[in-house]
Amino acid sequence: MLFGIRTINQMKKEYKRILITAALPYANGKIHLGHLAGAYLPADIYARYQRLKKRDVLFICGSDEHGVPITITAENEKTTPQAIVDRYHELNKIAFEKFGMSFDNYSRTSLPLHHSSAQEFFLKMHRAGILKEKIEKQLYDQKAKMFLPDRYVEGTCPTCKAPDARGDQCEKCGTFLNPTDLIDPKSKISGDTPIVRETSHWYFPLGDYQQRLKDYIDGKNTEDGWRDNVIKYCQSWFNDGLQDRAVTRDLQWGVEVPLEGYKDKVLYVWFDAVLGYISSTKEWSQKNGNEKWKDYWTNEDTKYVAFIGKDNVVFHCIVFPAMLMAWNDNSDVKYVLPTNVPANEFLNLEGQKFSKSRGWGVDVDEFLEKYPADSLRYALAVNMPESRDADFYWKDFQAKHNNELADILGNFVNRTLTFVHKNFDGVVPQLYELSDLDTAFVNELSFKPETVGNLIEQYKFREAVLETMNLARFANKYFNDSEPWKTIKNNPERCSTTINLCLQAVRTLSVLFQPVMPGVAHRIHSLFNLPTTSENFSWNNAAKLELKPGTKLGIPEILFTKIEDEIIQKELDKLNVSSKSSDVQVVEIKPTITIEDFKKIDLRVATVVECEKVPKSEKLLKLQISLGSETRQLVAGIAQHYKPTDLVGKKIIVVANLQPTKLMGTDSQGMLLAASDTDGKLVFVTTAGEISNGAIVK
Ligand code: 2FM
Ligand code: ZN
Repeated sequence: MLFGIRTINQMKKEYKRILITAALPYANGKIHLGHLAGAYLPADIYARYQRLKKRDVLFICGSDEHGVPITITAENEKTTPQAIVDRYHELNKIAFEKFGMSFDNYSRTSLPLHHSSAQEFFLKMHRAGILKEKIEKQLYDQKAKMFLPDRYVEGTCPTCKAPDARGDQCEKCGTFLNPTDLIDPKSKISGDTPIVRETSHWYFPLGDYQQRLKDYIDGKNTEDGWRDNVIKYCQSWFNDGLQDRAVTRDLQWGVEVPLEGYKDKVLYVWFDAVLGYISSTKEWSQKNGNEKWKDYWTNEDTKYVAFIGKDNVVFHCIVFPAMLMAWNDNSDVKYVLPTNVPANEFLNLEGQKFSKSRGWGVDVDEFLEKYPADSLRYALAVNMPESRDADFYWKDFQAKHNNELADILGNFVNRTLTFVHKNFDGVVPQLYELSDLDTAFVNELSFKPETVGNLIEQYKFREAVLETMNLARFANKYFNDSEPWKTIKNNPERCSTTINLCLQAVRTLSVLFQPVMPGVAHRIHSLFNLPTTSENFSWNNAAKLELKPGTKLGIPEILFTKIEDEIIQKELDKLNVSSKSSDVQVVEIKPTITIEDFKKIDLRVATVVECEKVPKSEKLLKLQISLGSETRQLVAGIAQHYKPTDLVGKKIIVVANLQPTKLMGTDSQGMLLAASDTDGKLVFVTTAGEISNGAIVK
């Protein structure tokens, strides 16, 4: 089947199949709700939707089983990396199953098939003379007798001066680092200060691909569903200029470098991880005795969609495409590049980042023991961090389950089916002449599949699910307005028509909710005694009035049992948060200061005259502000909450006499005042009246 999407010049690109990948999670810990909302749920909704559109879909994932965090965990637990990845591969695979992920294959990068696949890529590049060998200085732990790549070393961030930056990246300001960039580095193994020693590594010349990568990203636009923040992020990398990247490491755990004399080195985890998508597809082919992996990966009419979290953008939009370009330049077999890389922002928990070490998290397994997977999927989907970070609040989860799933969807299904059993012997009643109210309802039904489908095609999952729930709301209203409990007595044909249409709507809802709540959809659909595999369970005929009068219906069961306050309170108690989670977190007031202390702070009113993102930073915006007598530059950590254009022209309050500093290499002369709102969004403080720039705030 051919289908298309609009491209920039309005030409339709025809695709024959869809390859969907979701970021391979590290087998180094259990996945949490943030992971589910970031990459996995949107990917699964998309895959299920495309299957309902009867398209040829392959959905691939697996465990990322290499990299330094795994070997560090093994060392901490005094076990082997293999034991660690075996444990977490299994746990995560089971958690995904319970959550309802519909992967066609869930592989692991420790498989020999993956190792040989990744080595083949490396050798292809090596033989083509693409990779460059460089002698470089690396940190070395004399006590442990090993080099300290990536996270084996921690120290002070050269950019923001955070004291605990890791050798590969500073978590605080997001800067990508080399271990040798760190100030005062310390080995994670021995705690000692490492020495600098020479070693040789192979580098991939990313800069050589800059123009082609830029053309590739420039060819993507938001009309085709590309997220603005993904495109902008890539552009900031291009503006800084792409650099050579080392693709090998001095480690024992990983894919061995397939060259003589390099047996003590492995491929860098990100080099092999992205290739894990390909090897997982090969494994799927092997299991099914086919060679179809080639169709999915090397046929131009494949639409390849790679779902990830925002921290993976550079690897999927720049590094992986460059690796594929390098392969394609040197082979008759040409791999497809991602058609889209829908990257979600982060999900936090009750206003704070998930943190294993601080015990701030929700165990997915435990969650799914107590609450339905579909309720979690729904709650995460309607609050998906698509364009900005979002939060999971337990109270909000309860509200979504009780007030929307139970009171709107569950109620509509239940009242309709109960009515049929009570008044029509449990069979679908006849459809007679339609009233205006009925016609409006049929219209509403008929547009929904296309409206919701278009949103999913645009990767707007939040809106898609909200739209679907709106149909359930509309259906309840139709039921109320039609008053079947009255018409059953005075106008049986009217009543019969109303209930027929309500049943048709129940069926429509079961199809449209299937991508987000497959379990619930199945339970509803089974009431109609229709197979969910056949053509009648398809997106395109979801709104057709398919139910035949006379069809015997199953007995309705309660779809959603309400979750009591005490249950949620227990969850909050475990996290130790106040039950009024939407109130500001109680933070102790600082010690008293004198008025003289306060007068030292020069607070001024200013207007933002220009604003742009700080390159390579997800959090920082660079503002030019007018203080009346002067214009100056300041850097504020609000990029996740505001677009630059949101701020231009706005009045703000700044600390005007703060010692100037540099953030991510950018000068900042002052600080903007802001406070977190109940959603955790950092909101800038502004003035109420018309106050001139430079006015003193006292
Ligand atoms: O960030 C992560 O969890 C990585 N393991 C994602 C890898 S995605 C792909 F490259 F495999
Ligand atoms: Zn930093």
